[in-house]
Amino acid sequence: MTNRSLAKDPQDLTVLVTGGAGFIGSHTVVELLERGFNVVIFDDLSNSSPVAVDRVRQIVGIAADDPRLTFVEGSILDRAALEQVFTTFPIDGIIHFAGFKAVGESVEKPLEYYWNNIGGTLVLLDVARQYGVKNIVFSSSATVYGEPDEMPLTENAPKHDATNPYGQTKSMLEQILTDMWVGDNEWNVVLLRYFNPIGAHESGLIGEDPKGIPNNLLPYVAQVAVGKLPQVRVFGDDYPTPDGTGVRDYIHVVDLARGHVAALDWMGGKLGTDVALDRCSHAGTPMTDGTRSGVGVFNLGTGRGSSVLDVVHAFEKASGQTIPYVIEPRRAGDIAENYAACDKARAELGWQAEYDLDRMCTDSWRWQSTNPNGYAS
Ligand code: UD1
Repeated sequence: MTNRSLAKDPQDLTVLVTGGAGFIGSHTVVELLERGFNVVIFDDLSNSSPVAVDRVRQIVGIAADDPRLTFVEGSILDRAALEQVFTTFPIDGIIHFAGFKAVGESVEKPLEYYWNNIGGTLVLLDVARQYGVKNIVFSSSATVYGEPDEMPLTENAPKHDATNPYGQTKSMLEQILTDMWVGDNEWNVVLLRYFNPIGAHESGLIGEDPKGIPNNLLPYVAQVAVGKLPQVRVFGDDYPTPDGTGVRDYIHVVDLARGHVAALDWMGGKLGTDVALDRCSHAGTPMTDGTRSGVGVFNLGTGRGSSVLDVVHAFEKASGQTIPYVIEPRRAGDIAENYAACDKARAELGWQAEYDLDRMCTDSWRWQSTNPNGYAS
């Protein structure tokens, strides 16, 4: 079956967003709806809440029965549920977020991670192909670069071994999607390598809602600021960085979300004339309808590094709270610094991050302080 064309107006396109109730997914759905796309969220709610979907509707100003947004509860491992989605809705493209994402947990539960992330994606791809939908944006991670050789990281930097099963699943899925294109040039694949997404929608209605004690820095800092946790644990102050703490490229989740919309435009041939030459020598091949076939690989970051202490201080400024912290030993598997070269996304997707660290912290604080218990409150 030939591929569905994305060379249409957003109003005439329906995007399946797996994991669309999650942190990055929900923000992306807002941006898609605001651009006029029709959206079907498919999410098993294993690490997300249906309240997030209600809040998305509230932000965009659409009623629960508005056909522009449909929520379907289901797992990507459930083939019948996915087939039902493809038979019910005229899906044109997929943005695939669904997957387990906790690094530490992935070490404890490798089988669950490989099964859900790899197995689930294979089911999704097979069903999509069956229905002639061969356009997919995949939620990858800068974790695929492993221990980097030099900064900033360009998309051509070599991939190094992941130090945990979560990272392995991202790397393996990039390979699977690339091989799939090699076997069938009608596929149109975009791999988006995220740096460290933080912040929240400016409405304060949606944001990150981690289960239990957060593993990542920002939600941890936010919970200290709101009084739920006593102090930030700074993992190492003896790295070869300006203040000795780890440096990361934090990116506002709304900027990141907009990167996905730009990726859809790029796939539909609406942006950029350059071919995307990555690991596939034929990537970026124009199709007769103006769309592309190929594998586009893009970093989504800001290009700016911030240290753990920069983040703590920016959050203090945004929240007006004092944030106590204690220096602890380095966390196993952490690297000193990590930040993106963003030239390729700027040149080809016409996308670049707009918001700075202060804005990320202000928005994160608005979400955290008005929803101290996340969606449960
Ligand atoms: C982590 C994952 C990465 C994943 C990403 C998803 C690891 C080693 N890497 O990235 O694979 O794609 O999350 O969001 O887990 N820090 C503290 N105290 C804390 C938490 C973190 O000092 O309580 C420091 C870390 O040492 C690091 C920085 O803050 O320097 C950012 O950490 P984190 O938010 O966990 O993100 P990454 O480790 O960069």
